[in-house]
Amino acid sequence: MDRPPEALHDAVDFIRTRTIIAAPSLVPELRLHLATEVTPLWQATEASLTRDDLQPPYWAFAWPGGQALARYAFDHPAAIRGRRVLDFAAGCGVAGIAAAKVGAASVLAADIDAFAATALALNARLNGATIEVTTDDLTAVEGAGWDIVLAGDVCYERPMAERVLPWLRRIVAAGATVLLGDPGRSYLPSEGIEEIARYTVPTSRDLEDCTARETRVLRLAGQATLPVLSDSSAARTIR
Ligand SMILES: C[S@@+](CC[C@H](N)C(=O)[O-])C[C@H]1O[C@@H](n2cnc3c(N)ncnc32)[C@H](O)[C@@H]1O
Repeated sequence: MDRPPEALHDAVDFIRTRTIIAAPSLVPELRLHLATEVTPLWQATEASLTRDDLQPPYWAFAWPGGQALARYAFDHPAAIRGRRVLDFAAGCGVAGIAAAKVGAASVLAADIDAFAATALALNARLNGATIEVTTDDLTAVEGAGWDIVLAGDVCYERPMAERVLPWLRRIVAAGATVLLGDPGRSYLPSEGIEEIARYTVPTSRDLEDCTARETRVLRLAGQATLPVLSDSSAARTIR
């Protein structure tokens, strides 16, 4: 993180006062700083930083995709143990922290949101997990050095999916395993994915307009045989 110490202190304070420590619904093994309602935190973030184009506080929720990956890690520790793991677009870090808890050799959690980086550090400490955190946009570099990449809920916006999915496929082509956690987001590719697990993730109407999301863990193939993007739209709101 390249922020001055006072900004870091402000972020820690903001996160601690706007969230509660709770277990994600599908992953009772973990405790995370999580928001209980969407709107108040959204508004507080906007007001606090007075920036109209502010990144929504994705870090304050354990999204269904991340929870499914975390559940998969706890249910299949042998798939993770001893591996170098990247939790890409980590948010609160639910997937990466689970990987660390089941014995990953190393975990790098990457999120371009500086608030997420602070939340990741706080959440890792809460769970006694060792993870490294970066706010670098890793899609700008060719990935190297990871055995497994976990990417929870990354297919909710077209620009992000268009950037991230080809990059992830190149990582697969280079020999790593990429696991997506996805509850049916608009820009999930229809080809070049293989389901390896499926979970029902309890969620809230505030966040997802439903009380549970069928969420899959998908192994990404290096090549897609058809265009990877569907045509529906999703703006800031995740659907
Ligand atoms: C819907 S959240 C998912 C968070 C987490 N994986 C989960 O499932 O709970 C998406 C996250 O992607 C992050 N993000 C967007 N573009 C990114 C990029 N290029 N590199 C890293 N993180 C990114 C956002 O900041 C946000 O925290």
